[in-house]
Amino acid sequence: MKPKIVIGNWKMNKNFDEAEELITEITEKLEGYNLETEVVLCPPLVYAELVTDHANEEGAPFYAGVQNVSEYENGAYTGEVSAEMLANMDVSFCIVGHSERRKYFGETNAIVLKKMQRLLANDIVPVMCCGESLEERKANQHFSVVQKQVEETLYQLTPDQMERVMVAYEPIWAIGTGETATPEQAQEMLAFIRSVIEKKFGTEMAVNTYILYGGSCNAKNALELFSQQDVDGGLIGGASLKADDFVKIIEAGETVTKDN
Ligand code: PGA
Repeated sequence: MKPKIVIGNWKMNKNFDEAEELITEITEKLEGYNLETEVVLCPPLVYAELVTDHANEEGAPFYAGVQNVSEYENGAYTGEVSAEMLANMDVSFCIVGHSERRKYFGETNAIVLKKMQRLLANDIVPVMCCGESLEERKANQHFSVVQKQVEETLYQLTPDQMERVMVAYEPIWAIGTGETATPEQAQEMLAFIRSVIEKKFGTEMAVNTYILYGGSCNAKNALELFSQQDVDGGLIGGASLKADDFVKIIEAGETVTKDN
């Protein structure tokens, strides 16, 4: 089993002092761990440099990520930030296609694909989010919805690009609601996503691709979720805002990695 990856998505939370405090607390709590689990912090963009400064320190326990990027290369796009700018700041990971961006900012699969391509051209790992709504699950359309999201984004990449992408399955009904997918539901969908990847890119790529679960993953349920065969880690929202909880989730990743 490959080492787990735990990504903290802070969303639009924390003032500057709180952001600094959270980074310091996480760093201190992880001191002395010989971590196998990879940890990524995705703060709001204005704090990216704060995180990259810490991430660049020797022995830092985490990588720096952000939550969004422009789909354009550069130019007259007021308010946007390019992948090249993120790369210049030493950002290593970027979430794309989060359901909140799809819902509130009209991010389509075509836009998600463009963003991934910009990131890949600048050596930043895209973490591509997919997942169905409650209505879609109730209508038993969850597999077809996710398959379409994967086909319209990942299928458009070359194998060389695909090797550098991560996927996060986040059922919309589980995000921020406290209602987590059961470990069986998470496993079932992640195995399905892996099989969809396998169809286009082959077994080796499917096995090697990191596929994470997100949606009310917390200190209590992380161990059971991460123990599922196809769950390579978690994309954590609310529980990544408290150092204690976030570190417990990382510890769950360590436990599962070391037991295998
Ligand atoms: P949550 O958010 O952990 O607060 O449910 C996860 C996410 O939206 O990435």
